[in-house]
Amino acid sequence: MRAIIGTWKMSFAGVEEGLRMLKDGVCAGEAVVHAVKRVEDEPLFRSVGYGGLPGKDGHVTLDAAFMDGRTLRVGGVMSVENIQNPILAAYRLCGRKTNCLLAGRGAEEFAIRAGLPLRDMRTVESMNRWREAVAAQPDAAWEAYRGHDTVCVLALDDSGNMAAGTSTSGLFMKEPGRVGDTPLVGSGFYCDARFGAAAATGLGEDIMRGCLSYEAVAEMRRGMSPHEACRKALDALSARKKELEEESGSISLIALSPDGAIGAATTLPVFPFAAGSGTAAALYMVENASDGAIRAADEKKLKAVD
Ligand code: GLY
Repeated sequence: MRAIIGTWKMSFAGVEEGLRMLKDGVCAGEAVVHAVKRVEDEPLFRSVGYGGLPGKDGHVTLDAAFMDGRTLRVGGVMSVENIQNPILAAYRLCGRKTNCLLAGRGAEEFAIRAGLPLRDMRTVESMNRWREAVAAQPDAAWEAYRGHDTVCVLALDDSGNMAAGTSTSGLFMKEPGRVGDTPLVGSGFYCDARFGAAAATGLGEDIMRGCLSYEAVAEMRRGMSPHEACRKALDALSARKKELEEESGSISLIALSPDGAIGAATTLPVFPFAAGSGTAAALYMVENASDGAIRAADEKKLKAVD
């Protein structure tokens, strides 16, 4: 059985290609890295990789991570500015016994030693967005960026191994040095090939408070389907936030089980994602306001979140 799932419409092409790779016998890790890299390389996807969202200081800093479901090994980079593909650095770091999560300069020096390409990740468009934001609210206490952010991809290969990969530029106009959930194991992603994989997108500061990806995999370990597990993990955090008299932030979760079943849950009205198993990939969505079931994507509804 092979299967792959990725967050947002932006992951569709990578998920489709990743599924083809799985069909050709490529391992789950390589398929995940390919699908994430595909999004990092596309400047039109403005919250990941090249052309990502700048911080307050006008710098585009990126976070990425990778986890192997058989070994539970993790690799990740955070606050990196000039690594062309942060997911490649995360993949290379996975497998190390120590020093597998590197930040800033150390991560960039690692990338250089590993022979990974460097690039100025700013684009004319990303810098224009930053200039417009500064001009509109020069002294603002910036609100969390709303919209789609992290690309997360989970895959299962025919050998039964699973992998998870994540990549983001994080919040628009974030403070220098700010890191979200994306490179943090258990929060932004978790993968244990015995029980399943999960990953999160949305406001990192909230996602971390519930260790949502670990929670979703733990629910799968206890016997839930990936879909039930996503809903339960998300509802538990929302309920706790309600007790604390806090609003429920924008969070979406995806999950994949070792038998290839997919799941998703969201606090947004609609959350689109791409998934495929066997030979065909498609765009799906889950609607928070309705029964929370997974449906084939409805283009009209997706326009609102595009
Ligand atoms: N979920 C991405 C971030 O908060 O940085």
